[in-house]
Amino acid sequence: MKKIFIVGNWKSNKTTSEAKIWLEEIAKYTFTSSPEKEKYSIICPSFTLLPLLADGINTHKLSLIVGAQNISPFGMGAYTGEVNAVQAKEFASYVLIGHSERRRDFKETDEMLTKKVELALHAGLTPVYCIQNKDAYVPEGVTIVGYEPIWAIGTGKPETPENANEIARFVKRKYSYVQYVLYGGSVTPENVASFTSLPDINGVIPGGASLDPHIFSQLIEHA
Ligand code: PGA
Repeated sequence: MKKIFIVGNWKSNKTTSEAKIWLEEIAKYTFTSSPEKEKYSIICPSFTLLPLLADGINTHKLSLIVGAQNISPFGMGAYTGEVNAVQAKEFASYVLIGHSERRRDFKETDEMLTKKVELALHAGLTPVYCIQNKDAYVPEGVTIVGYEPIWAIGTGKPETPENANEIARFVKRKYSYVQYVLYGGSVTPENVASFTSLPDINGVIPGGASLDPHIFSQLIEHA
């Protein structure tokens, strides 16, 4: 059975009351299961919303999993303002590492990202390691990679499914530990199947399309 990961990235959006409404709305949908696909729908909110999402998923018995958008490159201790992997693991099972917005706006380097991967794995979080091109470095131990070309993020101009599939295959061949490659960048309910139906693409990372519960549930259904 093919595993499909749908990783919704809320970025720096939503207050607690908005997140509650999102949960109530998405709880109205029942997702159909398919004999060929095993879907993992992950939602990555801001740190402030992690407990709320974890509780809400439990209460509404939703088939959603919580992920974090980032973790500290340091462990527990004197690092003001940071949220470390062990703290994130209290609420989340997955964590996005190396999103292009972190690399660009917070100057995160491969060296720092490698530390984050080590800390995530040690805490029992599964990293979804984002890369922006096929030649990017992927730290050891990463099993899930997200290929997200910068020009496709938030532009409404996705990569072609064929190119994304080729890059996914290339990355899996280059790094024996990478088992799954996801595609991110302007994914919608309309185009999601053109990516997830290809043999080497194991899922998607929608940003904008994860904010609206109706659009996100359609996207999960079509994936
Ligand atoms: P987008 O963002 O779906 O809004 O293009 C994707 C991402 O940055 O993960």
